[in-house]
Amino acid sequence: MTEPKGDIAMRVFVTGASGWIGSATVDELLAEGHEVTGLARSDASAAALEAKGVRVRRGDLDDLASIRAGAQAAEAVIHLANKHDFTNMAASSAAERAAVQTIGDALVGTNRPFLLASGVAGLTPGRPATEDDASPFQGPDSPRGGSENLALDFVGRGVHTVSLRFAPTVHGAGDHGFIAVIAAVAREKGVSGYPGDGTNRWAAVHRSDPARLVALGLAKAPAGARLHAVAEEGVPTRDIAEAIGRAFSLPVTSVAPEDVQDHFGWIATFFSMDLAATSAATRELLGWQPAGPALIEDIDAGAYSAHTPVTG
Ligand SMILES: NC(=O)c1ccc[n+]([C@@H]2O[C@H](COP(=O)([O-])OP(=O)(O)OC[C@H]3O[C@@H](n4cnc5c(N)ncnc54)[C@H](OP(=O)(O)O)[C@@H]3O)[C@@H](O)[C@H]2O)c1
Repeated sequence: MTEPKGDIAMRVFVTGASGWIGSATVDELLAEGHEVTGLARSDASAAALEAKGVRVRRGDLDDLASIRAGAQAAEAVIHLANKHDFTNMAASSAAERAAVQTIGDALVGTNRPFLLASGVAGLTPGRPATEDDASPFQGPDSPRGGSENLALDFVGRGVHTVSLRFAPTVHGAGDHGFIAVIAAVAREKGVSGYPGDGTNRWAAVHRSDPARLVALGLAKAPAGARLHAVAEEGVPTRDIAEAIGRAFSLPVTSVAPEDVQDHFGWIATFFSMDLAATSAATRELLGWQPAGPALIEDIDAGAYSAHTPVTG
């Protein structure tokens, strides 16, 4: 393993800089004195980044030449962009893998930090995932295009790769991720459902916490580290459905396993999975201490009540 970079201000290229996690991460990086260049695919995203002092590199995730140039010009890369087309996961995974391959190739032999987003889904069915659990996903046809292992393979070629495994819900007011989609399904159906007996659990973290973890990881994580952005190890899906039911004054009900696909649509796959994960090793390694509200507390406080998310 190469040495961590320490507390040095860097020129950082961030993909997904305008996103839910990315925009909070960029604020944290700027506050730490880093010089940030963000990939932006639209005028709106470019303007939002420029307004807070971020340099803009225009480009789409499929514009690998722009991603390559952005990576080559930077002292560190944080890759958070994702197409998130859950109705065409193959396309999202292919784009993810191609971007990771491009960034890795651009950084070979530099020992520069390459932090990339990942998740905890499917890592360790039946028990909470830990940082020691290598991803079983290898190759382009696996979830997220096997991008975590692809990126970690670059450690042996002189890249300081660090995987950022975010809890399946990075929650908070303004979230358009999984909990917002589940809430939208509940409103559409007039009932807040949970899969089966609702004992399968989801790890969770409030949006205020991962940005700090990314900045700490950039400064201090050793090459090859897998960091878990997880505050709560596992919140039962029944508790989630009950909180959504309270938020929208909807009845709460179990949805039989044979009906979950029809009821929940594409989110059924994730909402039916046990996605628990711990973060003890991450906290120990970096001194990271999540401080944001818990998921149920957040839903009860109205985080999902004030906006209309878009379903996939
Ligand atoms: N949020 C969660 O709960 C969660 C949980 C686990 C893992 N993750 C992972 O963490 C990463 C960040 O997630 P997030 O919640 O911040 O996502 P997000 O809010 O959906 O943001 C996605 C970012 O990617 C950009 N993007 C999307 N399609 C693009 C394309 N074709 N070309 C260039 N840029 C594109 C978006 O740009 P625009 O602003 O222009 O749309 C945006 O900046 C993702 O890899 C995600 O899978 C998130």
